[in-house]
Amino acid sequence: MSTPIPRPPGIPLLGNIFDIDPNNTWWSLKTLAEKYGEIFQISVLGHRIVFVASAALAEEICDEKRFRKYVGGPVIEIRAAVHDALFTAFHHEESWGVAHRIIAPQLSPEAVACHFDAVSQCTDELISKWKGIGSQNQIRPLNDLQRLALEVTVLTLFGKKLNCLHGPDHPMLLAMEESTSEAIKRPTRPKLLNWLVYGGKLKRATKTMRNFAAELLQERKACGPDDTRRDLLWRLMNVKDPETGKALSESQIIDEIVTMPIGSSTAPCAISAGILFLLQNPDALVRARDEIDAVVGDGPLRQDHVAQLPYVAGVVRETLRLSCAAPGFNIEPVPRPGDESPVLLAGGKYQVAHNQAMIIVLAGVNRDPAVFEKPLEFRPERMMGDAFEKLPDGVKKWFGNGKRECIGKHWAWEFLVVVMAKLIREVDFEMVNPNYELKQDGWFNIRPVDFEVRVKPRRQ
Ligand code: HEM
Repeated sequence: MSTPIPRPPGIPLLGNIFDIDPNNTWWSLKTLAEKYGEIFQISVLGHRIVFVASAALAEEICDEKRFRKYVGGPVIEIRAAVHDALFTAFHHEESWGVAHRIIAPQLSPEAVACHFDAVSQCTDELISKWKGIGSQNQIRPLNDLQRLALEVTVLTLFGKKLNCLHGPDHPMLLAMEESTSEAIKRPTRPKLLNWLVYGGKLKRATKTMRNFAAELLQERKACGPDDTRRDLLWRLMNVKDPETGKALSESQIIDEIVTMPIGSSTAPCAISAGILFLLQNPDALVRARDEIDAVVGDGPLRQDHVAQLPYVAGVVRETLRLSCAAPGFNIEPVPRPGDESPVLLAGGKYQVAHNQAMIIVLAGVNRDPAVFEKPLEFRPERMMGDAFEKLPDGVKKWFGNGKRECIGKHWAWEFLVVVMAKLIREVDFEMVNPNYELKQDGWFNIRPVDFEVRVKPRRQ
């Protein structure tokens, strides 16, 4: 006998519509995970979704022999902007493999190590902006870190210096926010309402993002064949898939250019949460700073230092665990033609339909008390060396899973470690509200709400 999957009571016809705040979906899911535990379900406008919130069940549904990415809900909505690009491609679309094989070598650990100077110099620009704003400043680090992520993404992957750390928010940042927020909300509204009232919002944002990408492409084309840059843009334009011999069309190149800053916008959410965790845990901050000082000495941080900072690596992993900057991902059973029997989970304890969409809620999985002692505490040591290796795979899914795992994970790692190390080394942060408690909101990624700091040059 299987155990029924718990579900909040809800109301007739509309189901659990009031259990989910459409303006803060992931916070609602975190709250439900805290109440219902390892698995729960909701029904909204007749659609049933199952949520998995324990490490063991997450690990089980990450088994690619039985399960795969579910391309549905908000992921489908974002296809209006990027069609069959990496993040949004259906399993049957050949375009995914073609793009993956063309792009992946440019995001390998070796390739991203070459981005060190760009990440480092852009971070120096941000630090000097912060050092120049006077000691009585009050800033939201997230906004500047989002600018930094866009600046570094476009510089390292597409070869253009945007200089977007200063001035008004870059239109690409605003359009990414508009499109992802709209993509998350659309599946919760009736189709007619989406079409009549909200259609224009997604269209406008899509146009801005695609125009931005098209300009990058045109500028590069105008540089002619003698251009020596061999970055991702070059690969997108010139390299053929080694397996099929196919190249990307101009529209597909634009799809992939737009996809990358949307992906990398998760990194500033993590760093901003990381600053908060370090301020709440001054011992960890001191230990990270001591490690950096011992390894780097008086000179500048170099690429070869990155692998010599195990405690900083622990800080970054513990930040990824607790911030859940990418808050979850979607899974469905691999179709079994002719077999519509239920899928059994946890050795038959639970049953779901053969085609049931499921969402892994990392806010539950990453804080699973069955795995972590005092899961809410920030303890970088548990993310280092043997302790990290011994953790079950289910709690290491911040970059997603398997074939559809984050293609930008090495880029993200380089960015996170270099930016965090430089900030820890060179500036002091002070919380504007010392009693600030983490509250997050966001769409494809989640970020601390109203988290403000004062930033000053490091006291010697
Ligand atoms: C802290 C930083 C990041 C986190 C936590 C993160 C997390 C994730 C997760 C969980 C997925 C799986 C989504 C799914 O299954 O639907 C994913 C996919 C993806 N990410 Fe990231 N990501 C980060 C940074 C980046 C960066 C820097 C890039 C680009 C340079 C990027 C590009 C992508 C792309 C293109 C996909 C789709 C891959 C595919 O399906 O083939 N991400 N990411």
